This record gives sequence, structure tokens and C-alpha cells, in this order.
Amino acid sequence: MDVRTFWLAGRAATGDIELTVTNPHDGREVGRHSVPTDAQVEEAVAAAHAVARQAAALPVHVRAEALAHVARRLAERSEEIARLITAENGKPIFWARGEASRAVATFRFAADEARRWSGDVQRLDTEPAATGRLAYVSRVPYGPVLAISPFNFPLNLVAHKVAPAIAVGAPVIVKPAPATPLSALLLGEILAETDLPAGMFSVLPIQNERAAKLVDDPRLPVVSFTGSAPVGYSIADQVPRKHVTLELGGNAAAVVLADADLEWAAQRIALYSNYQAGQSCIAVQRVIVEEPVYDAFEERLLQAVSGLVVGDPGDEKTQVGPLVSEAAADRVEQWVQEAVGAGARLLAGGTREGATFAPTVLADVPRDAKVACEEVFGPVMILQRAASMKEAYAMVNDSKYGLQAGVFTRSLDAAFLANRELEVGGVIVGDVPSYRADQMPYGGVKDSGIGREGLHSAMTDYTYEKVMVLTGLSL
Ligand code: SIN
Repeated sequence: MDVRTFWLAGRAATGDIELTVTNPHDGREVGRHSVPTDAQVEEAVAAAHAVARQAAALPVHVRAEALAHVARRLAERSEEIARLITAENGKPIFWARGEASRAVATFRFAADEARRWSGDVQRLDTEPAATGRLAYVSRVPYGPVLAISPFNFPLNLVAHKVAPAIAVGAPVIVKPAPATPLSALLLGEILAETDLPAGMFSVLPIQNERAAKLVDDPRLPVVSFTGSAPVGYSIADQVPRKHVTLELGGNAAAVVLADADLEWAAQRIALYSNYQAGQSCIAVQRVIVEEPVYDAFEERLLQAVSGLVVGDPGDEKTQVGPLVSEAAADRVEQWVQEAVGAGARLLAGGTREGATFAPTVLADVPRDAKVACEEVFGPVMILQRAASMKEAYAMVNDSKYGLQAGVFTRSLDAAFLANRELEVGGVIVGDVPSYRADQMPYGGVKDSGIGREGLHSAMTDYTYEKVMVLTGLSL
């Protein structure tokens, strides 16, 4: 099997060791990649630093055309990419195709947004002392971005860091997740086809322990991290003076109010608690149902869960595949057993075969069980009863996390109340919290993170406002 090169300042390179990536479903070898040496990592950082001024001054059409090229090439190679995502991550091919087409959209939106990114003009002659004065307010990149990406969307969550960086003219160094580096390396191959200057991007598949040195490096003033809350906050603590964006975890809630379409809610919740084996920060974990419809909803939900197709991620029909590793599935199993041991009722699932964990539904879960208060990151949901809408919303907020929430209701007022009351970064009305469009602002409050992704939001995040005042003008 060929060994994939990594990308050092825009060109293919090899280091001194190789690592193997395996398929979580059957343990088969998916590919091997070369690992950069410390000297090569240093070379990539030095190149990003050296090109930063040139990058910030790149004409918009160069940035936008590079982004559009990546979108086109991802689209052309989408089936190959989807199969690679499935192979290295274990995500069923249906979901992998969805991720590949979302990455196309992410780069396309970035190209569009780069062309709109113009700054503002502000008249200052609102006071006599400022007659003839005008401000041009633009946004300027802080500098090179260190992008540390997770395994659960090995392509699109890399795209969400790389595309806005290029759009604003910031060099970017990607450190992909060790379990799933191949999709990011393939993205590097496509980026290398563009006219971006050398040093504008590197993809360095190094182990996690080596990332701390990059985080510390003052030549990388922006750190954009997606992953767990403990790791994210340790990064923020490590470099309090840097600009750090954290997309962290969640234990997302879906609220089913008494006026909801119960069948729709049951189908969506069943699917989106288990998509990608629950390995999404916005997978449905807590299901809060208003008392009058609780029993009817539970019945529909269990029926929908039992209809999910679990199996080989390469199979077209599979909806739920393995977790990223057997160790991850084993941890989920332990958390479920802990909850059952503490009095929870197991309504479905609870079994494990290798890295695959059956779609699981629990009820009467104690508030302090890990499956209730931590992020499961597995195909597990807990059912909770609420006496009223007000109580349901209070239950959503009874969490250290606050990424997104879904509210199934037909009432506009209930929707606006949710928007006002829920302590989250996004409220999805009439659907699951797992909904994300790639251009929309995405991020959390509380322990779910700092900053926002989504093209425009991330571009704002990677830049600071700079004002130029013009004087003596005939306005
Ligand atoms: C995440 O897991 O935070 C990303 C979810 C998504 O992009 O759909």
C-alpha cells in the first residue's frame, strides 16, 4: 500500500516514520502516512510566519479562486472522498457522502464570502470637530492559524478551519486527528493544485502529544480547536494571550412539546441520536417530552429506533455503524451500565459487538449519571418527562453544556420563548439539535466553547477590526 505524504508549506514531503490507519469496522489497514519530524514541523511554522504578510495582501480573486477550485475538485472526487471517510472513520457511506458534499459547500461559501468581505465605511463628520473625516473599517488577519481538528468529521471540520483562513488571507497549519488523518491529507493534495503561495498551508499528521509545542508557538497567534472540553480549556489556559476558538462538546437536548408532530419528532430523534454512532457534538442525547404526550411519544420513538439499520458502514443501507474504536464503544458501554446500575431503565439497546454499540434508549436516568450530564459521544439517548414547557426549557438548561437544542412545536410563541430562554448557541425549531447548515454561525456557550464557526463567523473570528481615518475630505 502506498504511503501518503504530508503537506509541508504547500509541497508533498515525507518524514522519518510511518503510521497506519485502520478501519474501525473490521480492523483492516486503510492506509499509511508519513509523519513529519520536529525539524519539518518547525519548517512549516517558519514558512507560515514568513508568508503571513503576503497572504494578507493576496488579491481577493486569488483567494476566492483557490477556494472555488477546492470546491470543484472536492465535488469531482466526492465518491472517492466519501469512501475514504467511511474507511478511516467507520461512518456509514450514506453519512460520508453527506459530509463530502457539505465540504464542497463549505469551500464554495468561503469563496462567496471572500468576495463579499469588504469592510465598512463610517462617516465621522457627525460632530463639528470631525468635519471632513471618514473611517474605513476593515478586518485584518491576526496571522497564521493552527487548526486542530477532530475525528468525527475528518473532512468537513478541517474545511471549517482551512476555508475561512484562506478567505481572509491567513496561512493555516492543520493538525488532523490521529485516528483519521487521511481525509485531511487528501484535502492537502487538492490545496496543492491551487496558486496559493508556498507556506500558506501545511497538513501535519503528528500525534497529539506534539501539538502542545505548536499551541505555544507565538508565530501561530490563532488556535482553532474542535474536540473535548477538557482538552479545549487546557489549550485556552496554556495560551491565555492567543486568540483561541473552541468548538467543544455538548449533551444536546431535543424537546418534544405537547403540540408537536410526534411521528416526525420520533423519526428525527431516532436517526439523529444515532447518526455517526452518536459521534457528533450535536447528536441528540437528552430527549425531554411534555407529560401529556410522553407515553405516545415513547412508543413511537422505540419503534423508530428498532427500525434503524445497524451494520457494515460500507453498505448503502446502513444507518448506524461502529464508533471510531473498540475502546470508545467500551467506554460508552460502561457509562450505560453505570446508569442502569444506578436505577435507569434500559428501553432499547445496551449491547456491544466490537466497536459497534446498539442504538440505546434509557429512561429514569439519575441526574448525575454520566449519560445524563456528560457528553456520551455514542448512540445513546435518555428520555425525560417534563410537566410543562417551562419545566422542559429549565431541563435543557440543566447542563454544563450549551451548544444547540431542538424544539418540536407548532407554536411560534413556544419557539420564540425557547430562543429567549435556552442557554445554547443555536435553537432549531421543528427539528433536532443536530441540524447544521455550513454557512450559519455554529458554536456554544457554557462549556461548549468559545467563538463561532460558519464561514462569515469564523472569518470574523480569525481577524481584528482595523480603522483607517481619512481627513480633509469633501464629503
Ligand atoms: C460537531 O460535531 O461539532 C460538528 C457537527 C456538524 O458539523 O454537523
